Amino acid sequence: MRDPKLPRPPATAAAARRGSPTFTDKLRRHSAWLLLLWFALSVYLFLSAAPPAASPLRPAFLLPRSLAVTSTKPPVRIYVYDLPSRFNRDWAAADPRCARHLFAAEVALHEALLSYPPARAARAEDADLFFVPVYVSCNFSTPNGFPSLAHARGLLADAVDLVRRDLPFWNRSGGADHVFVASHDFGACFHPMEDVAIADGIPEFLKRSILIQTFGVQGHHVCQEAEHVVIPPHVPPEVALELPEPEKARRDIFAFFRGKMEVHPKNISGRFYSKKVRTELLQRYGRNSKFYLKRKRYDNYRSEMARSIFCLCPLGWAPWSPRLVESVLLGCVPVIIADNIHLPFPSILRWPDISLQVAEKDVASLETVLDHVVATNLTVIQRNLWDPAKRKALVFNRPLEVGDATWQVLRELEILLDRSQRSSVGSWR
Ligand SMILES: *[C@@H]1O[C@H](CO)[C@@H](O)[C@H](O)[C@H]1NC(C)=O
Ligand SMILES: *[C@@H]1O[C@H](CO)[C@@H](O)[C@H](O)[C@H]1NC(C)=O
Ligand SMILES: *[C@@H]1O[C@H](CO)[C@@H](O)[C@H](O)[C@H]1NC(C)=O
Ligand SMILES: *[C@@H]1O[C@H](CO)[C@@H](O)[C@H](O)[C@H]1NC(C)=O
Repeated sequence: MRDPKLPRPPATAAAARRGSPTFTDKLRRHSAWLLLLWFALSVYLFLSAAPPAASPLRPAFLLPRSLAVTSTKPPVRIYVYDLPSRFNRDWAAADPRCARHLFAAEVALHEALLSYPPARAARAEDADLFFVPVYVSCNFSTPNGFPSLAHARGLLADAVDLVRRDLPFWNRSGGADHVFVASHDFGACFHPMEDVAIADGIPEFLKRSILIQTFGVQGHHVCQEAEHVVIPPHVPPEVALELPEPEKARRDIFAFFRGKMEVHPKNISGRFYSKKVRTELLQRYGRNSKFYLKRKRYDNYRSEMARSIFCLCPLGWAPWSPRLVESVLLGCVPVIIADNIHLPFPSILRWPDISLQVAEKDVASLETVLDHVVATNLTVIQRNLWDPAKRKALVFNRPLEVGDATWQVLRELEILLDRSQRSSVGSWR
């Protein structure tokens, strides 16, 4: 997943300013919003005595287990550790990319939780879960500007040492009720190459905790051997706002892909980039006029997605890429070519309704598949895709909005919590 979506400084001074205010500034600026949100939620909860069973936006985690709807006491209460700024705020202040790049869910979730009183425990004693806010992907010191993950394990280990030295909660559960974000290629394995990631594994001290990660595959994988919630890659929420409504965009491109496509993939410790899928795409469709395939970086690639009917989302090193989210936000049907990928929030997003999956071995029949869809059910898929609730579930708003990605994470945490409390031995307390 190393291509057009690279961490980069925001293009405009306005965007740079948006990235830089301190948390206190933000909180101050948002306090009016929070009051309003809190009021709106209270009214909503009061009115939702009989929520429709299938409504995807029913705020399940906000409903007390007793279903006493007049109570606004939320079932999941998260205590957010107030770590020294060297674990988080200093990184965000040092580089505006920190809060906006593809791994920025670690920042977004932290800020969203801070700004959302209904899910927060003011006192650690009252918490169900403990959020440890460490920004590990904001060291952009590598020569190509990618985040260096070399310090990730050390920084997290320091944070855990601090948390368990000063407060009793980590030791009480062995960290099992503690939540971390690990939004990199292979989650808490902290390496962009899968073989190294697997060899390194998840650090011992994180294995009992809950990891919020972008990486996910069906079945066994060393880098998901911990309780985890699969989240979408971070894409700035305004991507969905700055472009025309998807249904209004003129879609003159049939199938689009812009990104790294190696003509002669190299064998890097036994693996080929994208398992050669992108190379095959280029070979088979590079000269086909229905396919708009570009290898060069172009900052305005999202405008191309907004003009496309199908957006190809082939694996890179990891199975996921921000294209998945960008396609949905821009109303372009994602064509996922990444076997066994575990997609985020499947109960809300119902990916088979809004995307196509093509097996890695079936790239040769891609054109036939897409033609068939155009002739049969494209309009159904587009109608499903253009449901604003789908777009909302994929973006991390700051402050949180009901139905957005952070909100979906809270729902999933509630499910994990329920499960652990139901299993007799698994109680975290
Ligand atoms: C940032 O990464 C570089 C390269 O891995 C490393 O030398 C440096 O110590 C890191 N900085 C911090 C503050 O961890
Ligand atoms: C938790 O356990 C660690 C390691 O055993 C110990 O060093 C630490 O003091 C304990 N923390 C508390 C608050 O008792
Ligand atoms: C790729 O390289 C590895 C050694 O790193 C070698 O064992 C393997 O046979 C090579 N595979 C191919 C298809 O060339
Ligand atoms: C659309 O048709 C394809 C087969 O051409 C099928 O795989 C897919 O599930 C259908 N999607 C929807 C939402 O009907």
